[in-house]
Amino acid sequence: MTADLKFDGRVAIVTGAGGGLGRSHALALAARGAAVVVNDLGGSVHGQGGSQSAAQQVVDEIRASGGRAVADFNDISSAQGAQALVETALRAFGQVDALVNNAGFLRDKSLVKMDPADFEAVVRVHLIGSALCSRAVWPIFQARNYGRIVMTTSAAGLYGHFGQSNYAAAKMGLIGLMNTLKEEGAKHSILVNAVAPVALTRMTEGLAVSRWMERASPDKVSAVVVYMASQACSGSGRIVAAGAGRFAGVKVVEGRGVQAPTEAVTAEFVAAHWAEIHDMADARAFANAAEALIDTYGKDPS
Ligand SMILES: NC(=O)c1ccc[n+]([C@@H]2O[C@H](COP(=O)([O-])OP(=O)(O)OC[C@H]3O[C@@H](n4cnc5c(N)ncnc54)[C@H](O)[C@@H]3O)[C@@H](O)[C@H]2O)c1
Repeated sequence: MTADLKFDGRVAIVTGAGGGLGRSHALALAARGAAVVVNDLGGSVHGQGGSQSAAQQVVDEIRASGGRAVADFNDISSAQGAQALVETALRAFGQVDALVNNAGFLRDKSLVKMDPADFEAVVRVHLIGSALCSRAVWPIFQARNYGRIVMTTSAAGLYGHFGQSNYAAAKMGLIGLMNTLKEEGAKHSILVNAVAPVALTRMTEGLAVSRWMERASPDKVSAVVVYMASQACSGSGRIVAAGAGRFAGVKVVEGRGVQAPTEAVTAEFVAAHWAEIHDMADARAFANAAEALIDTYGKDPS
């Protein structure tokens, strides 16, 4: 095992680790020596109900194979719950090195048919929950000049998916959160990256399953989550689509654009250049908003 992909002496928190992908991430981290906080409130795939048995079973599994783990049953979508989760980690293991924001649930419907409360609940658990947990570990990471955060985004957010406006908004929101935390964490060696997984779990069991999906076990996603949570990780603000053993970077890019003459900045100009505006042949990704603005508007138009 590569030394910096080992987690001896490291502590990782995985939210929503009572089943599916989170369970797999927790087992993988523990197998590499991490002491793991297995958080899960044990609700349904639609975020109803709760039980302590899911998280406890994963803890039992880790301990049975000689690893270190503690269960936590807090609701990560509340500020109190997120704080209490981090306190569980500190009480049990004295520090935190990595946070994997994975918890969440679905309440799918087309927007017009969706109860606004279901829009809010889904945004709350995926986006606000990840922000609250990141905020709760942040002072620990700053003080130690070390930290790793993994966000769990989704193709639904990156590209859109019918019936998932709440979920897609939250998952794309996580990319904005990551982009800014990458800036805020840079001087403390806090790296923040995101995985866009595809795996067969209870969340995806209703989907039409292709042969490809049948090969998409959660452990194949955990490989990149382990890397992003490790000391070996390089880079921050990266998105990796991961499923069935395939790993691919994803980026937000901006085309070269078209400059309208000062006297003709009109809707007619936009209409006439619509295709050119969307020409992505020389598209670039920017390190941050300042770089994007300076690159685009900081120079005289030529
Ligand atoms: N499975 C996929 O193909 C896929 C694709 C894209 C994104 N994702 C994302 O991956 C993550 C894991 O999903 P999964 O497929 O393993 O589904 P899952 O339902 O098995 O796992 C989600 C877990 O989060 C827990 N949870 C929900 N709300 C919580 C809360 N408030 N506090 C603590 N725990 C809570 C649930 O109890 C559950 O165990 C989710 O963020 C999901 O959106 C999954």
